[in-house]
Amino acid sequence: METMKRTVTCGDLRKADTGKGVILNGWVHRKRDHGGISFINLRDRYGLTQVVVDSDASAELAGLAAEVRMEFCLAVEGTVRARPDTMVNKDMATGEIEVVVSKLVILSKSEVLPFVIDEKTNASEELRLKYRYLDLRSGQMQRHLALRSKVAFATRTFLTERGFYELETPTFIASTPEGARDYLVPSRLYAGQFYALPQSPQLYKQLLMVSGFDKYFQIARCYRDEDARGDRQPEFTQIDIEMSFVGRDDVLSLVEGMMGHVFRETMNVELPATFRRIAYDDAIDLYGTDKPELRFGMEMQNGAFLAGLGSFQAFKDALAAGGAIKALVVPGVAEKYSRKLIEDLEGTAKIYKAKGLGWMKVAGTPEAPALEGGVSKFFEGAASAVCSTLGAKPGDLLLFVADPKAKIACASLGAVRTRLGKDLGLCEEGRFEFAWIVDFPMFEWNEDEGKWDTAHHMFTWPQDKYHATLESDPGSVKGDLYDLVLNGYELASGSIRIHDPELQKKIFKIVGFSEEEGQKKFGFLTEAFKYGAPPHGGIAPGLDRLVMLMAGETSIKEVIAFPKNSFAQSPMDNCPSEVDQKQLDELHLKIVK
Ligand code: AMO
Ligand code: AMP
Repeated sequence: METMKRTVTCGDLRKADTGKGVILNGWVHRKRDHGGISFINLRDRYGLTQVVVDSDASAELAGLAAEVRMEFCLAVEGTVRARPDTMVNKDMATGEIEVVVSKLVILSKSEVLPFVIDEKTNASEELRLKYRYLDLRSGQMQRHLALRSKVAFATRTFLTERGFYELETPTFIASTPEGARDYLVPSRLYAGQFYALPQSPQLYKQLLMVSGFDKYFQIARCYRDEDARGDRQPEFTQIDIEMSFVGRDDVLSLVEGMMGHVFRETMNVELPATFRRIAYDDAIDLYGTDKPELRFGMEMQNGAFLAGLGSFQAFKDALAAGGAIKALVVPGVAEKYSRKLIEDLEGTAKIYKAKGLGWMKVAGTPEAPALEGGVSKFFEGAASAVCSTLGAKPGDLLLFVADPKAKIACASLGAVRTRLGKDLGLCEEGRFEFAWIVDFPMFEWNEDEGKWDTAHHMFTWPQDKYHATLESDPGSVKGDLYDLVLNGYELASGSIRIHDPELQKKIFKIVGFSEEEGQKKFGFLTEAFKYGAPPHGGIAPGLDRLVMLMAGETSIKEVIAFPKNSFAQSPMDNCPSEVDQKQLDELHLKIVK
């Protein structure tokens, strides 16, 4: 290798290099043979360079070139030659030149590939994951992982320059209830005892605040045993942040600055200096979700007036039962949306428990609109009132969900809104619409268990004005917590934390933790808080989701080098897998089939 070490990469050479002697190392991306001449596109992570074994090559060189197949790893030595004008490839950064090979070494051969390595492969996900090391050779995966590395670097630079320390916290911890199921690691030394892998560094970063490390961050691996989805993996990475002596706005503006820095440095995209803030209740009311897609407007409206206007019983009943009627005006699509397409939308609404999706089409003229189809028969003579109240005009499609539970009406029509945004192409690629969702409820009613749960985690500070009514009216308490959303995804969650052990005990009590239980599970935290805990707060953006959205992808698997499949398995190394009886014995475990 010493003598054939690259002097340039496959992305370096330009016309000005003509005449230079160079050595390149890389993989055979494509190979074409034309009347005794071999053209090889040599690839490395920096680009592609065409190398040529000319017809006047020695028999030895020609023989070697004939052996070369796709994805062989080569070293070539040669001279840079300008391509004739007609042969210039404008799609290739090195397209003005080629390298005429004088020496070729096959560093390593490749078997026939399970799929072609290209810009983007169309192999199945299972095959891609089985041969992930090959999948990662594609142009797209190379770019995604490069972006991930740059985002992590920009994050570290930004935070370090502002006085943050990057500190590690353990990955073997005590199992504590944190929302999802824990992954457990059995102890060999202590039969029947387990470590848990952290769902996040939450408790440890709070303890670091007690220790006086007032600005902490960590690009931290987190582990949650929950069903995988497009934006979820059993192990994932957070940009975990915690600060002392801060209020909500300090955390929000830090993250605004950090996102601005990261997007500028890695993608040359300029974000607004501050992001809009939407109260949780408004987000539900307007978009039906606490992670709204804001690249388009088309907000939901209050359709309560319809109960008094027409004779549609479902609307009247919903409102009478204290529920809601939500309305959505979809501009200009009345003709496009057949009954069948609307039924399809209704399917989406029903996933979120809607009883139906009412619809009408606006016809007529702006001065004299008319309503057609769907539930219009219940609104005879009311076309003008309906259209003027909703701001609808001829050609628009009107959609409604009424439900005795306002939450269901909002969530289901909101899901229809989100879907329409995708179907109608309203979500411009390359646009990034951030927003903060603030003023979340502190507690959620757990129907199954008939008790209150915390909406975020148990360490969230209830907003000051609710401290007096905390126990008497948990349902109305807002927490000092915030989410950062981007293009319809929850990118980050955080809160100002409780630093008062007495208040912490009250929260444990409300969610049904006995003092004993609280002591057992979180005793070390409440204990620590007895020794001068500073007020503190923090946040954790998901690194995988951030890079996924920056890369324009819809699955975080596309930005993780070695992810698990949708069944929490790795088809490449076959994990999870069985272990030897000896290992089980050492861990004091018996498998019950
Ligand atoms: P939370 O549980 O909301 O908060 O997580 C914060 C962010 O982490 C990302 N995320 C995930 N990404 C991929 N796969 C998953 N399974 C997954 N789960 C979460 C999301 C999410 O917004 N300790 C708190 C943060 C804090 O209060 O400071 C926490 O973990 O982007
Ligand atoms: P029905 O009277 O049940 O046949 O429903 C007539 C139309 O109203 C259908 O298009 C239903 O999908 C729709 N619909 C029924 N219930 C509701 C509801 N609660 N909210 C909105 N639309 C509804």
